Amino acid sequence: MIPGDFQISKPTRRQAIKHGILGVITLGVLVVVALALTFILSAWLGRPVVFGYSEGPDQPIAFPHPTHVEDLGMDCTFCHRNVTEGAAATIPSAGLCMTCHEVVGDELEEIEKLREMYEDGRPIDWVRVHRVPDHVHFVHEAHIRFFTERDGVEETAVCATCHGDVGSMEKVEQVRDLKMGDCVNCHRDYGAPTDCTACHY
Ligand code: HEC
Ligand code: HEC
Ligand code: HEC
Ligand code: HEC
Ligand code: HEC
Repeated sequence: MIPGDFQISKPTRRQAIKHGILGVITLGVLVVVALALTFILSAWLGRPVVFGYSEGPDQPIAFPHPTHVEDLGMDCTFCHRNVTEGAAATIPSAGLCMTCHEVVGDELEEIEKLREMYEDGRPIDWVRVHRVPDHVHFVHEAHIRFFTERDGVEETAVCATCHGDVGSMEKVEQVRDLKMGDCVNCHRDYGAPTDCTACHY
C-alpha cells in the first residue's frame, strides 16, 4: 500500500451507535412529515387519500330507508324535522316511529327491538354516518332554502346533492366527500361565502 493513500476509517463503536440513533430520528421525522402531508392533502383536496369510503355502519336497529321512502312514500322532512329550520337535520325519537309501529310490524325482530327500547325509555344510539369536525360550522337550513328556491325543486332533491339517493340505501353510507375542498368549491360556484369564518368558529 502506497503511504498517503486515502483510507476509509472504520467507525468506532461509539460513532456507529451515534449514527444509528441519528438515522432512526431522521426516519421518524420523515414519517411524521409524510403523515402530516397526507392529512393536509386529504383535508384540502377533499379526497380520502389513504382510506376510501367504507360501507355504512351497522345500526342498533336495521332501519330501512327504502321501505319508508320508496314503498311508503314518506318525505325526508317527516323524520328529519329540523332540516329546513336549523343546523342539524336531526333523527326522530322512537316516539315518532311508534305512531306506526305500535301496530305495524308485529313479530318482526327489528320492530320488537324498537318497541323494547321505547318501553324502557332508552334512547336509540344511532351511529353517525356524516360528521364534520367540531371546529366546522354547517347549517342545513341555509342549503335547503337556497337550492329549493333557486331550482324550484323538492327538498328531497336537495338532500341528494350531498347525500346521494338515501331512499334506495338499505344502510346509509356517505357518497360525497364534504371536506373543505368540496365545501369551498361549491360555495365558489354559487357565490356563497368562502371566508374562513363562514365555516370555522
Ligand atoms: C321514517 C323516518 C325516516 C325517513 C322518512 C327518512 N329518514 Fe333518514 N334516517 C332515519 C333514521 C332513523 C336514521 C338513522 C339510522 C340510519 O342511519 O339508518 C336516518 C339516517 C339518515 C342519514 C344519515 C345520518 C348520519 O348519521 O349522517 C341521512 C343522510 C338521511 N337519513 C337522509 C334521509 C333522506 C335524504 C331522506 C328522504 C329521501 C330520509 N332520510 C328519510 C329516519 C328517516
Ligand atoms: C308512517 C308509518 C311509519 C313510521 C312513522 C315508521 N315506520 Fe317503520 N315501517 C312502516 C311499515 C308500514 C313497514 C313495513 C312493515 C312490514 O314489512 O310489515 C316498516 C318497516 C320498518 C322496519 C323493517 C322491519 C323488518 O324487519 O322488515 C324497521 C326496522 C322500521 N320500520 C323501523 C322504523 C323506525 C326506527 C322508525 C322511526 C325512525 C319508523 N320505522 C317509522 C311504517 C312506518
Ligand atoms: C350541502 C350539503 C348537504 C345537503 C344539501 C344536505 N345535507 Fe345532510 N349533512 C351534510 C353534512 C356536511 C352533514 C354533517 C353535519 C355535521 O356533522 O354537523 C350532514 C348530516 C346529516 C344528518 C345527520 C346529522 C344531523 O344533522 O342530524 C342527517 C339526518 C341529514 N344530514 C339529513 C339530510 C336531509 C334529510 C337533507 C335534505 C332535506 C340533507 N341532509 C341535505 C350535508 C348536507
Ligand atoms: C352543493 C353546494 C354546497 C356544498 C357542497 C356546501 N355548501 Fe354551504 N352553502 C352553499 C350555498 C349556495 C350557500 C348560501 C346559502 C344562502 O345564500 O343563504 C351555503 C351556505 C353555507 C353556510 C351559511 C353561510 C351564511 O353565513 O349564511 C355555511 C355555514 C355553510 N354553507 C357551510 C358549508 C360547509 C361546512 C360545507 C361542507 C361540509 C358546505 N357548506 C357545503 C352551497 C354548498
Ligand atoms: C365552505 C366551508 C369552509 C370554508 C370557507 C373554510 N373551511 Fe376550513 N374546513 C372546512 C371543513 C368541512 C373542514 C373539515 C375537513 C375534514 O373533514 O377533514 C375544514 C378543515 C380545516 C382545517 C383543519 C384541517 C383538518 O385536516 O382538519 C383547517 C386548518 C382549515 N379548515 C382552515 C381554513 C382556512 C384558513 C380557511 C380560510 C382560507 C378555511 N378553512 C375556510 C370547511 C371550510
